[in-house]
Amino acid sequence: MSEQDDSAFMRTFGLVMVALTVLSLIIFALAMFAGSFGGDEQARAELQRERAERNLRPVGAVHRDGDAAPVELAAANGNGNDEDVVRTGSDVYESVCMACHSQGVMNSPRTGDEDAWASLYEEKGFDTLVENSINGIRAMPPRGGNPNLSDEEVRASVVHMLEQAGISVDD
Ligand code: HEC
Repeated sequence: MSEQDDSAFMRTFGLVMVALTVLSLIIFALAMFAGSFGGDEQARAELQRERAERNLRPVGAVHRDGDAAPVELAAANGNGNDEDVVRTGSDVYESVCMACHSQGVMNSPRTGDEDAWASLYEEKGFDTLVENSINGIRAMPPRGGNPNLSDEEVRASVVHMLEQAGISVDD
């Protein structure tokens, strides 16, 4: 080996060392960058928990004195601050009545079945339908099986079901 070869080797070796140092710095920087996503992990978990909680909330919200009442019934009652727990007809329908009436379970008049509801409405009249919904009739349980419903809420859900069958009740 000549002296020239040696210095050429040293130059190349030096360059390789510099390159390796730069490379390791880049890798270090990348690692720091990737690590900074760690903070998001917690935010994401938080968001997921929030979403799960929202999904677990019951469909029919309870409205108490002071809360803004649902528009429909607030209007029907003349004020939004009724002492009673107030739910709209469609709220009550979705949380209670739908279980049977959406599919016509046990021969219940199916929601949206215009013929069935039209003949019930004509034969019995609105007041009797409401009465039967409150007291129960044959396989139809009183208040749809939910004793917490007020007369007003049952009435509103009957109005809602009649509306679904194209019958508008002016009460
Ligand atoms: C457990 C199932 C079930 C639930 C829940 C239910 N219904 Fe019914 N409903 C029936 C059945 C069954 C009938 C048919 C009864 C009959 O005529 O034999 C019926 C009939 C009715 C009728 C017709 C009554 C009549 O005079 O013929 C009305 C109105 C009615 N339901 C309203 C409601 C309302 C309002 C709710 C919710 C608050 C509700 N139902 C929840 C099963 C149910």
